[in-house]
Order: sequence, then structure tokens, then C-alpha cells
Amino acid sequence: MKVLISGDRGYIGAVLAPLFLQAGHEVVGLDAGWYDGCDFGPYRLDYESRTGDIRYQTPEDLRGFDAVVHLAAISNDPIGHLNPETTFSVNAHGAAHLAEVARTAGVGRFLFSSSCSLYGAAGDAAVTEESATNPVTPYGESKILAEQLIAKLADESFSPAYLRNATAYGASPRLRTDIVVNNLCAGAQRSGEVRLASDGTAWRPLVHIEDISRAFLAVLEADREVMHDQAFNIGRDEDVMQVRAIAEAVAARYDAPVTFAAGAGADTRDYRVSFAKASEQLPAFRPQWTVPLGIEQLAGQMAAYGVEIERFTRLHQIQRLTDGGRLDELLRWR
Ligand SMILES: NC(=O)c1ccc[n+]([C@@H]2O[C@H](COP(=O)([O-])OP(=O)(O)OC[C@H]3O[C@@H](n4cnc5c(N)ncnc54)[C@H](O)[C@@H]3O)[C@@H](O)[C@H]2O)c1
Repeated sequence: MKVLISGDRGYIGAVLAPLFLQAGHEVVGLDAGWYDGCDFGPYRLDYESRTGDIRYQTPEDLRGFDAVVHLAAISNDPIGHLNPETTFSVNAHGAAHLAEVARTAGVGRFLFSSSCSLYGAAGDAAVTEESATNPVTPYGESKILAEQLIAKLADESFSPAYLRNATAYGASPRLRTDIVVNNLCAGAQRSGEVRLASDGTAWRPLVHIEDISRAFLAVLEADREVMHDQAFNIGRDEDVMQVRAIAEAVAARYDAPVTFAAGAGADTRDYRVSFAKASEQLPAFRPQWTVPLGIEQLAGQMAAYGVEIERFTRLHQIQRLTDGGRLDELLRWR
């Protein structure tokens, strides 16, 4: 298939796009380029990647594609807090706009990168795709609104799907150190301690970015009845962990102590998730990574390439671009 991947130069996209190429699909990227130059190790683009904003795409831009994989977003809680209006402009209305122009252009499938963050503060039971949502951040709220707006466009020739990814981890040429496993590894690598900002009691589902990429591939290639207008939680039941247990796994790899930041309290983002639906309905999706393997991968590459935490922290890079007057308050290039 000919697939447009938005956000292809981001953390997940930089791993997902090569996997789609390997699987034999034709890939074109579309990215605003906010993180261009923030590379971790060698990074080569072996396909066309357009520089542009999802909010300004037209049906002409989307003509000829069979599918869109929509990753582009303000993609974590801290940047989402910076300016909630901007988060909604990109993550909800921008996503719906891209879906709308894709449908007008005759694109058949639209795979939206949603997030388990929309479950927010979920209590003790593992949430399924049918559970109530309870987001605790503008980021989580924006993902719910996006799903709702995109779902209105579903019809017999336009099939959206919503992949609610767990918290990602793992190495990428566009590494991020602002997500829990990567953050704890980067801290251990640099300071020799595994420092928790919270008390570590919150539950968090985790998934390696290569497995997220495999899930998108499975949904792209699934029968239409399986994926049409469907949400799938993407992760592994075995990797729903308490943050404290993640810290202990990193500490074991680095032989480093676990320490707590002054005043570390509970994290309100606390949810356990069931991944049974994807496991049952997407037989082509079989996660291959485990958290200890991912920690090993990160430790190896961080030792080889070095890790500057600021360079791989999204909030820091966005603030650098806005403070320097290069992006406006809605994160559009000036
Ligand atoms: N990383 C995670 O833990 C995680 C978990 C669940 C869901 N997700 C979702 O997966 C998707 C990809 O996440 P990521 O971690 O790769 O994010 P990322 O921030 O690393 O990459 C996002 C990319 O999108 C681009 N982008 C942002 N706004 C754009 C716009 N308006 N037009 C064009 N390009 C734009 C950025 O330049 C960047 O390269 C996001 O939708 C995110 O919400 C991520």
C-alpha cells in the first residue's frame, strides 16, 4: 500500500517508517520538523519525507494514498500543559482535519495514534476499550476528542481505527528521555542513580516502540471488518508495571540505587490496562519486546552514543523554538 505517515520524524515514526518499508509498503512522511537535528546515533531517511503541518493539508496533498498512519501530535503530558489550546489545535482538530481531507481524497484507512492516557485515573481494575475514560491532562482529553471527531467520518469507504498505545520505551534515532523507562535509564547513565519524581506506586502499561510499529502494521493489513471504527489497546499484559518496579529493573541493570525526589508524592496518572482485544483480534500482532530487554537496548545505545537529556526532552526543544521566535504560540513556523 501507499501510506502517508504523519510525524514520521518523531520518536515512534523514526522506527515505524523503516518497518513499513521493510514490509514492502510505499512510504511518504509528513512532519513539521520540530525535532530535526535532535538525533541519537545515525539517522537516515530512505524515503520521501515532506515538511508541513497536518493542520494545513489539502485533499490534493493526500491524493493517491491507500492509508494514513497519523502519529503527528503534541505527544506527551508536559508539552500538553504548556498551552492546552495548542494541544487541542494539533491533537484533536488537526487530527480531524487530516482525517477529513484524507476521506475527501479517497484514502481508505486512517490509523490514529491514540493513547492509554485517556484512561487517566482508572482505579484498580484493568480497563478495556469499553471502559469509561477519565483523563487527568489536556493531552488525554485531546486524544478522546480526536477519536470522537474522527469516528464521525467513518463510512463504507473510510475506515478509521484508534490505537491506544501504552507508554512507549526503547531506542529510536529520535530518542526521548521524557518517558518513564527511557528517563530512568538516561538518569542512571548520567548520574549513577535511578531517581523517581513520584512515590512510584502508580501503575503504568508499557510497550516497546517496535511493537507499537508492528501493531500499526497489523491494523493496516487486517480485514476491514476487524479494524473499521475500532479502538485497540496496544501493549502487553505482562508489562503493566508499578513505576517502582520499573525503577528497580533499571537499578538492577546499572547496579545503581533508587532514590526519591524531595516531596515525591503519588502520580494521578494511574491505570491498569487489558490488551486482550488486540491479542485476540489481531493475530499478526505479537509483541516481541520485554521491559528488561528494552532497558538492555537503551543502556547499550546510551553508552555508545551518549545521552544529553535536554536534547531528547520534547518540552525543552519546543521551548527553545518558541523562545527563539521560530514557532508561534500555536506551534506554527513563523
Ligand atoms: N511516546 C509515547 O509514549 C506514546 C504513547 C502513546 C501514544 N503516543 C502517540 O503516538 C504518536 C507519536 O508519538 P511520538 O512519541 O513519536 O511523538 P514525537 O513528539 O516524538 O513525534 C511527533 C512528531 O510529530 C511532528 N508534529 C507535531 N505536530 C505536527 C503538526 N502539526 N504537523 C506535522 N507534524 C507535526 C513533530 O515534529 C514530531 O516529529 C503521538 O500521537 C503520541 O500522542 C505516544
